[in-house]
Amino acid sequence: MNAKPIVAGMVVALIACGVVVRGVRAQGGAAASTPKKAEEQFKNIQTLKGIPADQVIPSMQFITASLGVECDFCHVQGAFDKDDKKPKQTARKMMEMMFAINKENFEGHREVTCYSCHRGNAKPVAIPVVMNEEPREAMGAPKKAEVETKESSGPDGEALLDKYLQAVGGAAAVDKVSSRVMKGTIDVGGKAIPIDIYSKDSDKRISFTHMPEGDSVTAFDGHEGWMGSAGHPMREMHGGDVEGAAIDADLHLAAHLKSMFSELKVHGTKKVGDSEAYLVVGEREGKTPIELYFDTQTGLLARMVRYGETALGRMPVQIDYADYRAVNEVKIPYRWTLARPSGRFTIQASDVQQNVPVDDAKFAKPAAPPEPAKGSAK
Ligand code: HEC
Ligand code: HEC
Repeated sequence: MNAKPIVAGMVVALIACGVVVRGVRAQGGAAASTPKKAEEQFKNIQTLKGIPADQVIPSMQFITASLGVECDFCHVQGAFDKDDKKPKQTARKMMEMMFAINKENFEGHREVTCYSCHRGNAKPVAIPVVMNEEPREAMGAPKKAEVETKESSGPDGEALLDKYLQAVGGAAAVDKVSSRVMKGTIDVGGKAIPIDIYSKDSDKRISFTHMPEGDSVTAFDGHEGWMGSAGHPMREMHGGDVEGAAIDADLHLAAHLKSMFSELKVHGTKKVGDSEAYLVVGEREGKTPIELYFDTQTGLLARMVRYGETALGRMPVQIDYADYRAVNEVKIPYRWTLARPSGRFTIQASDVQQNVPVDDAKFAKPAAPPEPAKGSAK
């Protein structure tokens, strides 16, 4: 391959981070054909040549989150390939700078990212900020880091996963769940909007948020994920989002967790809300790790943190689970809060039914309109 030095450096960085390109849940190996490269799918890729095409949009989301801007900070509306905006050109130079910093100082490990410097600002702050308020904590109060992590010689990872499976009702009960229909509300910007969520074995899930202007939909059909809202074309899910959607759609996740990981490490206990939880980090072959927080008292999953891989850095998604209630002998969270760098929302279920018939047609992907990202230039 015509690897320019910078690209070579990046590929090294990617390999160092354990990026192996694979289809989602390609356990059968069927989806393991060589994925498209960025430059094969997009028109004007110069710096990110060689990365999987599937990582272009996630990488863009990483930049957007790191700089605290929107796509149009760098892009002309509807023509993502154009180089008309100066910040886009600067961003290319910044990527090369970032790859060089990591190559020259960190043996190609991706230690420094856009976020290391930018911290949510288009222009990084170089001078330490003065304290503008009286310090909240009295002197001598324990520092955050001290209370947060307590190393313990507690249970090992496998035992915590077992305890979790027991806590939700045991493998047999979990296995019996073939579908789930939830009704509730989603908290969007302080407003409670009605939401319906349908899940069906295996790995199908769709949610309908009943916005005043029409339904907005997030779906995973067992293979592909997409999102749509009234008046906007459907958007495909990419990279880590698809993988995350597959996890969220798994009705038997509690029983499947163990087989997802090649290694489990317990990192002591941490606070999740008001409770203590064991942090278990699950390493996955060729994929980003997943952090699982199990309540030390109940054994239930209190938090999951996943990372979407991109060419420039990892994007976190944190889900906090609460209000566990038993439905058909299986405990499920009636409330969860999903948080990303770009925002957060909470869903509160009020009515949950399991093992009711759900038509497969519900999960059918609508006919593909041109994807806004690639259908850019006229
Ligand atoms: C800070 C600047 C910046 C921001 C913000 C940004 N991009 Fe980009 N984008 C770039 C650069 C630079 C490239 C070219 C990368 C290269 O040459 O390898 C690019 C390339 C692209 C491409 C490929 C276009 C083509 O056909 O060649 C798409 C699609 C894209 N961006 C979408 C987005 C989306 C969607 C967002 C918002 C989520 C976004 N970008 C935010 C800088 C940015
Ligand atoms: C080592 C620190 C560092 C890293 C890493 C870094 N930047 Fe920057 N970046 C800067 C500094 C400093 C400036 C501001 C220069 C100035 O004030 O004019 C800047 C400016 C920019 C600008 C111009 C902003 C504007 O207002 O016009 C863009 C766009 C940008 N960076 C994108 C990125 C992207 C994308 C990445 C990751 C691929 C990145 N930067 C990584 C330090 C960094």
